[in-house]
Amino acid sequence: MPFEFSPQKLVYGGEALGYAQGRTVLVPRVLPGERVEVEPVRIAKGVVHARPLRILEAAPERITPPCRYFGQCGGCHYQHLDVERQVCWKADIVRETLQRIGKIAWDREIRIHQANPWNYRNQAQLKVMTAESGDTALGFFAAESHQLVPIEECLILSPRLNSILGQLRQPRWLGRLRGCTEVELLANDQDDRVRITLHGNPEADAPERLADDLLQQLDGVASVVILEGRGTRLYGESVFTYRVGEFKYRLSPGAFFQSSRYLLPELVKSVTDAEPGDFALDLYAGAGLFTLPLGRCFERVIGVESHPAAAGDLQANAESHGFKNIRAVRQTTSDFLRRFAQKDPDLVVLDPPRCGVGNSALKYLIDLQPRRVHYVACHPPTWARDLACLLAGGYRLEEVEMFDCFPHTYHIECLARLVRPDLASR
Ligand SMILES: C[S@@+](CC[C@H](N)C(=O)[O-])C[C@H]1O[C@@H](n2cnc3c(N)ncnc32)[C@H](O)[C@@H]1O
Repeated sequence: MPFEFSPQKLVYGGEALGYAQGRTVLVPRVLPGERVEVEPVRIAKGVVHARPLRILEAAPERITPPCRYFGQCGGCHYQHLDVERQVCWKADIVRETLQRIGKIAWDREIRIHQANPWNYRNQAQLKVMTAESGDTALGFFAAESHQLVPIEECLILSPRLNSILGQLRQPRWLGRLRGCTEVELLANDQDDRVRITLHGNPEADAPERLADDLLQQLDGVASVVILEGRGTRLYGESVFTYRVGEFKYRLSPGAFFQSSRYLLPELVKSVTDAEPGDFALDLYAGAGLFTLPLGRCFERVIGVESHPAAAGDLQANAESHGFKNIRAVRQTTSDFLRRFAQKDPDLVVLDPPRCGVGNSALKYLIDLQPRRVHYVACHPPTWARDLACLLAGGYRLEEVEMFDCFPHTYHIECLARLVRPDLASR
């Protein structure tokens, strides 16, 4: 049954939270201060998830979403708010998460980094679906669903990726994508070279013929990867690179790379900004985005990365830049820390996936007694949980920064700088 609802605040995950009929209610695309008619969709752990039916009284800050797919496509969450207000809410969410999950009362500044809020994504995971009629479509999934929303253009994708999307959705290409489940696009820093990764088994063509035509006929396509089952076939240029500042990173298929392009140099600068020292650890190092700049600042650096392709890139990137002082270790952070005996790193950089670092690995880390820890995270809840553990282990939170790498979505990149006051002057 529909009911009336007045949200109180925006919360992590893109929804607005409020209370109705004695229950907590979460609703997307509505704003605090509004009166809305909503309809329950499901109840999970006592919380009612509902969808908005009608705005009965709009908040003054509500704007018309610039994207015509907003509300259907699940990619964006905040296009009904201008970017400045989005950022204010995101900073509030970071503070609230630190308090609620980490029990950390952070009332000092959160330094905010912002850039162009449009065309910022250098990567896209386009879904491919074929209807019973045989028609194939390309687009993104609707929120919390596997229902395809066909897309002509996405305002947060780089211009090059939009141009490729525009071409791929023409019937002559769509038919040839049948049998694929996903088309993954990665553009380089100049937005002039693209790697296309096809997941699945293209039915209409021999894979090499399709790859060849994509390479020849789509402007800017430098390589094509076809991932089918456990096999990987690569066509075109064998090495794909992305430049950030003075470093050029080799990125292999399957290896993680940051997907927001404008704030990357600023993120790298903030994360690696430290006094020169003897020894730094970069845990969850990926292809070495932070490891290489750390190699300029520290006598010795160890980068730890568990994904085989990313660990290979880390090693190759350190070598291609002539770093003799960087060691790439292919291991999980937890396994590495459990066996690593050398104490007293000057700096440890942490950049884990959404699940965070976790208590047991943090315990090993605290035992190593790093002087400083820079913890960058894409998932504030696990970041706040882990920060609480570091504070209990003797660390002091010195600075919090927020990178609005993903405007119009609820995603946030956070950075915490911590120090062990008793070791700081070591
Ligand atoms: C958020 S990414 C950060 C990568 C890199 N710092 C960057 O910014 O490009 C997290 C990385 O941790 C790696 N990873 C995931 N679980 C790991 C683990 N348990 N131990 C070590 N690395 C892990 C992933 O493969 C991924 O490359």
